[in-house]
Amino acid sequence: MIAIKDLSVKYRGKEEEILALDKFSINICKGDIYTFIGPSGCGKSTLLHVLSGIMKDYSGSVSIDGQAINPKTQRIGLILQNYGLLPWKNVYQNTMLGVKIKNGNELSDDYSKYILKNLAIDNLLDRYPKELSGGQQQRVAIARAFAMKPDLLLMDEPFSALDAITREEMQELFLNIWKHNSVTTVFITHSVDEALYLGRKIVVLSASPGRVLEVLDNPCFNLDNLRFRDEYYSMSMKLRKIVSKG
Ligand SMILES: Nc1ncnc2c1ncn2[C@@H]1O[C@H](COP(=O)(O)OP(=O)(O)OP(=O)(O)O)[C@@H](O)[C@H]1O
Ligand SMILES: [Mg+2]
Repeated sequence: MIAIKDLSVKYRGKEEEILALDKFSINICKGDIYTFIGPSGCGKSTLLHVLSGIMKDYSGSVSIDGQAINPKTQRIGLILQNYGLLPWKNVYQNTMLGVKIKNGNELSDDYSKYILKNLAIDNLLDRYPKELSGGQQQRVAIARAFAMKPDLLLMDEPFSALDAITREEMQELFLNIWKHNSVTTVFITHSVDEALYLGRKIVVLSASPGRVLEVLDNPCFNLDNLRFRDEYYSMSMKLRKIVSKG
């Protein structure tokens, strides 16, 4: 379980301090997908930076299974708003960044092969990020995060730059891969639809500095033809109401 208690983060701006998170608390259970939804600037990316171990300057406590966050001992996969691919490495090298090389032969790793094939980037292995479309870059970022078999997967609006159809394909692919290993996932989104489609739990945040307004169990998760169902419509209305009040 991830326990976040009274997490506060300040940025030092040129003239003033910006309080990005103010005593933010939540518990995140193992093996679930949590979608976080909240207005721009409420501190979502800041929260992920703390959880990933990149940001260390905070007050309050954050622990995974009772231990302080440490990317060296915990395997944490991070997919950033801007993909975070290394431009000087090709698709294969970018995908394998977090994978420990076993017996000097990475290609024998069946799981990596499965990921590359499912994300349809197995035919692009020699290309560099600048030679890829936005959707392809995003798939490489997802492949990299899954290939390392993380204990915790952090995704910061990973599909927001994609067109609607590619985005729905990516959401489905993500769920298919997730069902294989049920990795604990924190998924940030601006979209009510995406929060409902991907979240087993939905966390609604207030405007800056972000507070938890509600944590909802999502009855829509994993329903067939979700977008045509009554549950979808009523949850969608409920979420929009909470978001707009926050
Ligand atoms: N490096 C920085 N220096 C100063 N202020 C920052 C910095 N990074 C973020 N902030 C401020 O901290 C607050 C939270 O930012 P954060 O990026 O976490 O928001 P967010 O919820 O991810 O927003 P968005 O939905 O637009 O991505 C905002 O007010 C932002 O302007
Ligand atoms: Mg952000």
